[in-house]
Amino acid sequence: MRAMPKKQKKPAKFKFMPFSDQQRRLIHWWRPAVKTSENNYLIADGSIRSGKTIACIIGFLTWSQEMHSGEAFILAGKTMGALKKNVVRPMLQILESWGWPYTYIRSGTDARIEIGTNTYYLFGANTEAAQDALQGLTAAGAYADEAALFPKSFIDQMVARCSVDGWKIWMNCNPAGPHHYICEEYLNPEEMKRKKVYHLHFTMDDNLSISAKRKEEYKNAWPHGSVFYKRFILGLWVAADGLIYQQFADNVSDYLITEDWLKENEIVYATIGVDFGGTKSAHSFTLTGFTRGYKQIVVLDEYYCKKRINPKQLQDDFIDFVRRAQRKFRVYEAYCDSAEQTLIAGLEMACAEARVGIDIKNAIKGPINDRIAFYNSIIAQNRWKVMAHCTNIITAFEQAVYDDKKVNMDVRLDDGLMNVDSLDSTEYSTESIQEDILYVAA
Ligand SMILES: Nc1ncnc2c1ncn2[C@@H]1O[C@H](COP(=O)(O)OP(=O)(O)OP(=O)(O)O)[C@@H](O)[C@H]1O
Ligand SMILES: [Mg+2]
Repeated sequence: MRAMPKKQKKPAKFKFMPFSDQQRRLIHWWRPAVKTSENNYLIADGSIRSGKTIACIIGFLTWSQEMHSGEAFILAGKTMGALKKNVVRPMLQILESWGWPYTYIRSGTDARIEIGTNTYYLFGANTEAAQDALQGLTAAGAYADEAALFPKSFIDQMVARCSVDGWKIWMNCNPAGPHHYICEEYLNPEEMKRKKVYHLHFTMDDNLSISAKRKEEYKNAWPHGSVFYKRFILGLWVAADGLIYQQFADNVSDYLITEDWLKENEIVYATIGVDFGGTKSAHSFTLTGFTRGYKQIVVLDEYYCKKRINPKQLQDDFIDFVRRAQRKFRVYEAYCDSAEQTLIAGLEMACAEARVGIDIKNAIKGPINDRIAFYNSIIAQNRWKVMAHCTNIITAFEQAVYDDKKVNMDVRLDDGLMNVDSLDSTEYSTESIQEDILYVAA
């Protein structure tokens, strides 16, 4: 028996503002009366907050409802969480505004939205299970939000599933490197002709709903000239090369602080990041503190040990580090490299025995690029500070570079000589709250 959908609270109605010309093109390209409808694919790329997702949702809904009935469609996001937040939420608000009835089955293996006679299946592109689930489907269309963050295998599978006559595939994304598969397989002129791709490039000016002030804030959230500025603000498919933290490297002294700074700025709490060393790498701990409302993110202390030491020594050094930190700050959590579960268990036991109260957690270890983007952003916003005695961390950020042997792959150089350990431990200390920190206005 099919489970009855739970009674759901109605979402608010979407408040429409005027659409830009570019958004109108995206909403209407498929209409049989216009020439662009000859295409099979729509790719909207470009800057963040430029109105791509909203216009895609509206276009996809109207196209699928007007051109198809009784069919299945794919709605995919980077993760199920991202899909629900960025696509499903505004989509339901739009349906409420239009007064179109729908049923939303939010959980289970076939999470879906039913509208009229069509069914829209929801997928997070990042799991094996999603790819398996896709395999059984015959669809009349697909919408991939933030498609450049999907594994290529998911996009390939998604394309293969769309076989109903009149199928169309809609994708939007922020640009990545110029050799990303979306750029090479969908946006080069030959492929565009062969596959029939309609390409629409968006900038923030194509979103009439954001104020000039807000636009300025977004623009200042990235170092001008950095790869992130070029991709997220200008919306260009450009390679990452050279120094990863150019703005920091050019102005190191602007970011350094001493005890005097701490007298004038209260640290509300602090967290510890731990990277364990191996044969060639170092053990590294970073203590990062936060002022009220995450206005300032401050590296307060570091531990760095490149010698080979036994686990007992590591535990003792960790306990010393935590005690030193807790004498001055509120420190509740340590995020540790999850690849080393035995060492983590050792630290936990040692802390319990020494009656040092700290919650030892696994580091999230998300994409390195997200962490790099995060630090670039807080550096650009002048919200990152480092205590001048943390010389390993300072040098590590100053020298961090992209690997020039892996051009266009956005890979951080890790050749055994670069100190990536200090980068890792510092990133682990903030990774769980990256998003929160970026979302509060500087
Ligand atoms: N015509 C519109 N009316 C009302 N709000 C709009 C309109 N167009 C865009 N917006 C709002 O502007 C914001 C950014 O739009 P959207 O999420 O579509 O941008 P995006 O290009 O997908 O951004 P990102 O690349 O960050 O995902 C959203 O809050 C969206 O609701
Ligand atoms: Mg979007």
